[in-house]
Amino acid sequence: MSTAALFVDAPAFAHPERARWIEAFRRVRQETERRAAPLSPEDQVIQSMPDASPIKWHRAHTTWFFETFLVQPNRPDYATFDQRFAFLFNSYYVAAGPRHARPKRGLITRPSAAEVADYRAHVDAAVERLIADASASALPEILRILEIGLNHEEQHQELMLTDILHAFAQNPTAPAYDANWRPPRSGAKEGFAELPEGIHTVGHQNEGYCFDNEGPAHRVLVGPVRIARSLVTNGEWLAFIKDGGYANPMLWLSDGWTAVQNESWQAPGHWQDHDGEWRQFTLGGLRPLDPAAPVTHVSYYEADAFARWAGKHLPTEQEWEVAARGGQLADAFGIVWQWTRSSYSPYPGFVACDGALGEYNGKFMINQMVLRGSSLATPEGHSRVTYRNFFYPPARWQFTGLRLADYN
Ligand SMILES: [Fe+2]
Repeated sequence: MSTAALFVDAPAFAHPERARWIEAFRRVRQETERRAAPLSPEDQVIQSMPDASPIKWHRAHTTWFFETFLVQPNRPDYATFDQRFAFLFNSYYVAAGPRHARPKRGLITRPSAAEVADYRAHVDAAVERLIADASASALPEILRILEIGLNHEEQHQELMLTDILHAFAQNPTAPAYDANWRPPRSGAKEGFAELPEGIHTVGHQNEGYCFDNEGPAHRVLVGPVRIARSLVTNGEWLAFIKDGGYANPMLWLSDGWTAVQNESWQAPGHWQDHDGEWRQFTLGGLRPLDPAAPVTHVSYYEADAFARWAGKHLPTEQEWEVAARGGQLADAFGIVWQWTRSSYSPYPGFVACDGALGEYNGKFMINQMVLRGSSLATPEGHSRVTYRNFFYPPARWQFTGLRLADYN
């Protein structure tokens, strides 16, 4: 039994805050392993496109994050598990040193999945020891980095599911990640929520943890606008397809139309036409398309074209947040991320933090669009009303959908 385990399990435990953090750390680390558990070592090596990463890489990279940003700076006596892993499992942190090329992550058969499990156990023990043994003066900064690391790992937990879904979608035998998987129930509501014109405060207001890109809170003028209470459904998307939505350049942004032609898009991602009958490749394998379910795996370009076809718009991220704060949106969380028409830019007064962790969000604030809400793959407790997800406009391997806005 490790020192940390003794520390946590002691009946006269005198440091409940440290015990809570160790518990939180274990919960997040175990959730990653739970998501990887149905996957064989072979499943865990594959990288189906440059945007996606192997499951084994996610398991190792999240571990490297704790090792690099939490353990090594605070424990001079820490024995690094393998010096070569820093090159293999650094994602994009230039300040943390050179790194392996992202599109080539799927070419790494070694370390094996089992060795990655050993790496995780090694770093887990070091992190737990650090939390248990840190001086009172060092603890606040250690917990600050720990919390970033936990939220970082939760983001990768979502990517694990979307990346393996994309990988399995390339397999003609349509393997199921979980044969018993069921989609979340949609709580669709009719109609539009009215936002009368007014000044509102958006952004994070000391309501618990947030990423740096969610602040500072600031005032914005919002409305008048009406926002759909419900997400756009597969059935509505079928009508868009039947009406020639993918064949009409007048509906598309110029870059979007180029993407339609280059990628031969005729339907959302993971839709398959079986002799005129649409099926959808899901975490449960190939399933009949449910017309009532919210549409997912659409790019920003597709969401924008659909809105134009419907005579509507996408909401801005500020409009989305005001409506969500007011409880006016059904399915705001837990089904699909919702594209907004807002480009991913710094809020007024945003300053990235110093050092390598300053690279976490700020340097990506160009050429991407904001998505709000959360998806069925988002881990429990990771969602909030100020959360700003962001992807490039053509991306559609995430669980991405939309709701409409109307300015009339
Ligand atoms: Fe990462």
